Amino acid sequence: MTVRELLAEAAQVLPHRDGLPDPAREVRWLLAHVLRRSEAWLWAHPDEAVDDEAAARFRAWVAERAAGQPAHYVVGACPFWGRGFEVTPKVLIPRPETELVVELALQLPLPAHPHVLDVGTGSGCLAVTLALELPHASVVATEISPAAIAIARANATRLGGRVHFVLDDLASSAAGGFDLVVANLPYVPEAEIAGLAPELTREPRVALAGGADGTELLRRLVCDLPRLLTPGGHTLLEHGDGQAGLIAPLLPALGLDEVTRMRDVSGRERVLVVRRHR
Ligand SMILES: C[S@@+](CC[C@H](N)C(=O)[O-])C[C@H]1O[C@@H](n2cnc3c(N)ncnc32)[C@H](O)[C@@H]1O
Repeated sequence: MTVRELLAEAAQVLPHRDGLPDPAREVRWLLAHVLRRSEAWLWAHPDEAVDDEAAARFRAWVAERAAGQPAHYVVGACPFWGRGFEVTPKVLIPRPETELVVELALQLPLPAHPHVLDVGTGSGCLAVTLALELPHASVVATEISPAAIAIARANATRLGGRVHFVLDDLASSAAGGFDLVVANLPYVPEAEIAGLAPELTREPRVALAGGADGTELLRRLVCDLPRLLTPGGHTLLEHGDGQAGLIAPLLPALGLDEVTRMRDVSGRERVLVVRRHR
């Protein structure tokens, strides 16, 4: 079959529904991954023949997608800060808004050889990216899920980022002395879990559920920051809607300052920047 015929066939299979508003675009994206080509190449080569093996793989992926599997789990990869991270349903799919944490981290006044900690590393997207972008940093990443840490390790090895991974509850066993702590911890309030879009329910619950108001893990980590951070050290906390206002009141008693609240492209407060007093 040709590229054009396969795309037309698949567009019939993939239903229009919430979270999947543009089936034609999705099938192009999937076929581009199967063929290891760009979508632009597909546009330019509609009459190119696709071999049976690739066509069978493409049909299997389209069927998985039609059954509600998120596209990045179907192809097993997700881009983050310009690199491809392996993902499976054992880890959260890295979100574009989390790149804001990297952007902010790279703007901070860090020492020449910074000690960096990523808490709840998931696929390793933050830890591995920071290890690669800050080549003189020593990076530690923690995670409570053994399955996730295995994927993060594989990503670090494949992408060449040197990260020390530790299976831990938050950073309980970390010794401290970090110039920078980053965390994108689960922050969905308990009451919202049941109403999540179907695609989100395919992601691990341990990566989403943040306790009663969503800030349970964030609060626990914030209370540990005086121990984890060097004097003057910074923390970047990704959080959900309206949660900076729940966390910020904890800071003064802990010897921490709120530096700023950064908004994502949709204008929502997304990352709370915190600094330990000198
Ligand atoms: C929202 S996901 C973010 C993953 C990754 N940092 C990212 O930005 O894509 C949160 C991660 O925290 C992990 N996690 C949940 N509770 C934890 C805990 N108590 N200690 C360490 N990690 C935890 C989850 O397994 C999950 O991988």
